Amino acid sequence: MRPSLVAANWKMNGSGDFLRDYAERLELDQPLKIDVVLCPPSIYLAELVRALRETGVACGAQDVGIQPSGAHTGEIAAEMIADAGAEWVIVGHSERRIDQNEKDDLVATKAAAALRAGLKPIVCVGETLAEREAGHEIAVVERQLEAVVDRVDLDGLASGAIAYEPVWAIGTGKSATTAQAQEMHAFIRDKIAHVDAAIARKIRVVYGGSVKAENAEELFGQDDIDGSLVGGAGLDPIQFAEIVHAASR
Ligand code: 13P
Repeated sequence: MRPSLVAANWKMNGSGDFLRDYAERLELDQPLKIDVVLCPPSIYLAELVRALRETGVACGAQDVGIQPSGAHTGEIAAEMIADAGAEWVIVGHSERRIDQNEKDDLVATKAAAALRAGLKPIVCVGETLAEREAGHEIAVVERQLEAVVDRVDLDGLASGAIAYEPVWAIGTGKSATTAQAQEMHAFIRDKIAHVDAAIARKIRVVYGGSVKAENAEELFGQDDIDGSLVGGAGLDPIQFAEIVHAASR
């Protein structure tokens, strides 16, 4: 399908000044033809939502707590993210799987929590370099995907996206080749099709890992690459706009 989602994961970057400057310098062809999402650190969500009002650009969080409210110090509920005006949330990013030891089961619970609050989840999957070198990339992605697909409402999941982010391509400047990415995206779609063919046709499978203005067009030309979850290049509003425009052609 045509690419229809480009999201920027700012990771732990930004400040009030940064987001105000970014919102001013982000120039996108209007009306937007695809979903465009910015995911800042949660503390900046409400202000970024306000700064982007009237632009059609949506906001998302980078993580979500699993409980709706209560005695869970430091956690942010999906309902709070929605209350701040955000519509999306990234779950299962490899940096959280690695830094916070998040397991497949927790990632699935987070995706379900997002859907409970009406947020669209971007569920990240992807293998490490060691896993790819051992030839286990398909098995790893299959396991990560199954945990979520078996657990959540698929219509809800299809409102969001699956992001294939090979860990070895994140922040390394070393993107997966278009063939490697397309092969995994086709596998992901096929795997979902075994559960529900209509959902598989509808859900966006986006690629993340050293996506830049220079390689976006070629990636977006692949049959099963429906957009991107951009890291580093998404911190530059000019380059991010170029990636959005490459997806919108
Ligand atoms: P980079 O684009 O910096 O490689 O990061 C990708 C990513 O992790 C997006 O979530």
